[in-house]
Amino acid sequence: MGPLRYLPPTLRGKVTLAIVVALLYYIMATPTFILGGSNSTTAQRERLSIQRPEDDLGRNGTLEDSKRILLVSAMFPLRKSKHSTAEYDRWLRHYLGEITTDIYLFTTPAMEARIRAFRGENLTLTIDTTYSSPLEIPPLKGKETQYKKMHAKDRESSIHSIELYAVWNAKPFFLDAAVRSLERQGSKYDFAFWNDAGSFREEHRYRQWPSPAKVQEVWDEGSRLTGTSHEDLVFFPMWSAPHGFNAQWTENMGPIDAEFSEGSFFGGQPNAIDWWARTFYAYHDHYLSYEFFVGKDQTLINALFLLYPERFITVWYNDPHTPARLAEGDGSLLGQCSNEWFYYQFWLSNTKTKEAMRDLWIYNATKWRIWGWWRPKDTRRCADTRMVTIKDVLRRTFGDNWKPPLRRVEIPERVDAE
Ligand SMILES: *[C@@H]1O[C@H](CO)[C@@H](O)[C@H](O)[C@H]1NC(C)=O
Ligand SMILES: *[C@@H]1O[C@H](CO)[C@@H](O)[C@H](O)[C@H]1NC(C)=O
Ligand SMILES: *[C@@H]1O[C@H](CO)[C@@H](O)[C@H](O)[C@H]1NC(C)=O
Repeated sequence: MGPLRYLPPTLRGKVTLAIVVALLYYIMATPTFILGGSNSTTAQRERLSIQRPEDDLGRNGTLEDSKRILLVSAMFPLRKSKHSTAEYDRWLRHYLGEITTDIYLFTTPAMEARIRAFRGENLTLTIDTTYSSPLEIPPLKGKETQYKKMHAKDRESSIHSIELYAVWNAKPFFLDAAVRSLERQGSKYDFAFWNDAGSFREEHRYRQWPSPAKVQEVWDEGSRLTGTSHEDLVFFPMWSAPHGFNAQWTENMGPIDAEFSEGSFFGGQPNAIDWWARTFYAYHDHYLSYEFFVGKDQTLINALFLLYPERFITVWYNDPHTPARLAEGDGSLLGQCSNEWFYYQFWLSNTKTKEAMRDLWIYNATKWRIWGWWRPKDTRRCADTRMVTIKDVLRRTFGDNWKPPLRRVEIPERVDAE
């Protein structure tokens, strides 16, 4: 008899004891499910109240169709893809099958039928097969050799390919080209946004997304805070502030390698989209000619944030100074918002949809699962936050005296084609 004398002597006894201990632990760890109390009733109510909004209704309960919004995406086969076809199919179903906003999509003739099959009934989808590869769009055509040289310098060259660089760098052109093409056909939109085709990864309740009323509100606020007119503002979500040493950054130092901007979603009014495409490719070509690495659009976007801070408005999930910051708890800053990279999706939806998304995420975080039930989950409802301007983010990071660096690259009147 040693220190183990309180353990049951038989194997069956030990197994039973282990099960009892595990069950007790489970009961203690997840009070919402087994024990009674106020938490349990809220959780149950949340589980029962999950429903699909028939339509994305505005704050006034009327259908939001005051402003016309277009989403633009592209889908090209990649030799070195990080994701499987099955994954893409699931994401496309969540995007094309459920988002009711008009969509314009660039792809190859071979992929057209497969993609069209995912689009929900009676929903608008324009497919454009003008380019069989993003390397063929006018601003990138003929740059393959330069891209191959650039690939050799990439610190992540093993997971990147020149086709992937082209997929990223083609976004400003595609967004602008889609708006122009529909305008020629007589369809004018108030706002258009680039949206990565694979960005709706999980089940969601977004329908008429982004909410036109919310977009209008963001633009009104953005214009007020920046002094830039509505038609010149560009929206990009952001991830984290750049490092403080970038306060010394100047134009001739090239793209900024940081997880600052998020290129999954961006846009504005047609005028801003045209400006963005011209500016993006002017700097792309400028830096490429000096053999800087411009394979990742994110690093180029970061540089343009510093050069033109007054043009950009954003939402920052990780903002340490957000007034919406939830006080208690040691989970994330804004509660259970599922994948934080896509927080802008939640933020750009209307009040009713936000509630439906919170219900969905709380249900998902509290439901019992065989694998992972022991891990702590953030069960605070996802908080809404404010819009911030890039100028404000940069002033907070670099100091109030920071001034945007001098701009010497000339922006042409049209996107230059080779
Ligand atoms: C909702 O109501 C407010 C106040 O009555 C009004 O200013 C706003 O334009 C309405 N929004 C929509 C989308 O109808
Ligand atoms: C699509 O439109 C047709 C004809 O207007 C209509 O009968 C059908 O119910 C619609 N389907 C959906 C899912 O709205
Ligand atoms: C549900 O939770 C799992 C595990 O945390 C996560 O992987 C998944 O994305 C969540 N689903 C939704 C709809 O957020």
